[in-house]
Amino acid sequence: MSSLASLAQTVLEMPDPSGKSLLTRKHAALWQSGQISSVGQGHPPDRPARPAKPALMPPTAMPRRSKAGLKGRIALLHALAHIELNAIDLAWDIIARFTENDLPKAFYDDWVQVALDEALHYDALAELLAGLGASYGDLPAHDGLWQAAEKTRNDLMDRLALVPMTLEARGLDTTPATMKHLERHGHAEVIPVLARILEDETAHVAAGTRWFGYLCGLKGLDPAQTYKSRLTPQFPHGPKPPFNHEARLKAGQTPDFYEWAI
Ligand SMILES: [Fe+2]
Ligand SMILES: [Fe+2]
Repeated sequence: MSSLASLAQTVLEMPDPSGKSLLTRKHAALWQSGQISSVGQGHPPDRPARPAKPALMPPTAMPRRSKAGLKGRIALLHALAHIELNAIDLAWDIIARFTENDLPKAFYDDWVQVALDEALHYDALAELLAGLGASYGDLPAHDGLWQAAEKTRNDLMDRLALVPMTLEARGLDTTPATMKHLERHGHAEVIPVLARILEDETAHVAAGTRWFGYLCGLKGLDPAQTYKSRLTPQFPHGPKPPFNHEARLKAGQTPDFYEWAI
């Protein structure tokens, strides 16, 4: 009988993006229907398997993304698809990596749902790319998200602070402006997909913030202060404004988490 951690590992070891997404949907169904109920022990790879293309570059070496016309739209969708593909792996990695932490079943329920959402986001973006005659892998992509995973692989609180509470929360801040830009330029077909992503990502930030709060509660720590101290090595000045206060509040983040200048 498989465990959730071993299922997570097979997704992480799958190089093909649509295969990764398909396995995610299958494995999420096994967990959510109760056919698999043991978490087991994980041995996640240091890096998830990825296809030969796109070439991965350090974030600082990425060529400037064109914003105009069809090229610009393809570049945007490609960048978002890359984020979602990383997000699938990040969700399975948090499941497989922290099996020693004695967490309640609800923790795994949340991250399985996150993995499933990310797979649906990836598929929706891949479909939009295909509609433009492009596909994931056509353009270079940055390796920043996995670098964040590597920096926080030894500590669940560090991982929650950096990945869902900061990097995914950044998506809440930037997505409304991206939607407005696309609307202004007549790309209405992308808007429902981004609206769905924004709603789901709010739930992901909420899950990260809630579990961070849970772990703080076990240790008698103040969540906002602890978040600041955990994030400081990576973001000495805190998250970057402007902030989507409404979405962050929905996700359980009051300004004392992210407005460090005040
Ligand atoms: Fe997503
Ligand atoms: Fe997410």
